[in-house]
Amino acid sequence: MNQVMELLKKHASVRKFKDQVVDESLLADIIQSSQYASTSNHIQAYTVIHIKDQAKKIKLASLAGEQSYVEECPVFLVFCADLNRLGKACSMNHETIESSLTELFIMATVDVALLAQNVMIASESAGLGGVYIGGIRNNPQEVCDLLKIPQLVYPVFGMCLGYPKKVNNTKPRLPLSLVLKEDEYSTQEDMVKLQEYDEVIRQYYRDRTNNERSNSWTEGIAAFLKQKQRPHMKGFLEKRGFEMK
Ligand SMILES: Cc1cc2nc3c(=O)[nH]c(=O)nc-3n(C[C@H](O)[C@H](O)[C@H](O)COP(=O)(O)O)c2cc1C
Repeated sequence: MNQVMELLKKHASVRKFKDQVVDESLLADIIQSSQYASTSNHIQAYTVIHIKDQAKKIKLASLAGEQSYVEECPVFLVFCADLNRLGKACSMNHETIESSLTELFIMATVDVALLAQNVMIASESAGLGGVYIGGIRNNPQEVCDLLKIPQLVYPVFGMCLGYPKKVNNTKPRLPLSLVLKEDEYSTQEDMVKLQEYDEVIRQYYRDRTNNERSNSWTEGIAAFLKQKQRPHMKGFLEKRGFEMK
């Protein structure tokens, strides 16, 4: 395994940070190198907002469901899927963007996710750590108002970055045989493999929490997915101009 793969396998979200400033030039290098992520048709449908104003970080921490690390982290970034700039590119050429299509929503969302994961990896390669914050979609309209995010742009997630104070053990992932199929989507022995993985995750949580938590992976997933996740998103996205036709 090479160094890049070793780095990938060491990833664990970081939520506690040292009181150490992240150099502006390092952050610029991280974002610039991350822009070389592949992008559908070179559309680069993303904008990143670096939140420097502490009052805004405090507000965002609250909007994200009282996630204190949003206000404590040295760097907080908001990653937006952005069709607005593409609308301008079209009008510069006397055309109109067909922004109502679901496909454009997918393109922009995938584009920003690829950029963000490069940012996470580049940051980790430079000794930083971080965590994504999907919690900003708890109150997405308020986030748009606070950050003056225009139509045809939506905040997909935030990301806390900084020098790690505490690093968790890596969380074991699903076995390769469940994730990687050959030639067709076979489901052979899926249940058995899931049961085995359940025990791996149970032990991971026992070790991490001194036996306070011991749920399996499928138990966690069931508890999470029995609830309707952010049902406001459809209406919010339609109002932003993502009509999903
Ligand atoms: C899109 C996205 C949104 C996430 N949102 C949050 C969040 O709001 N708060 C949080 O503490 N972790 C969040 N996470 C982190 C995940 O919980 C974490 O990546 C997952 O449990 C795996 O753990 P690991 O990153 O330590 O390997 C998010 C991750 C992703 C990819």
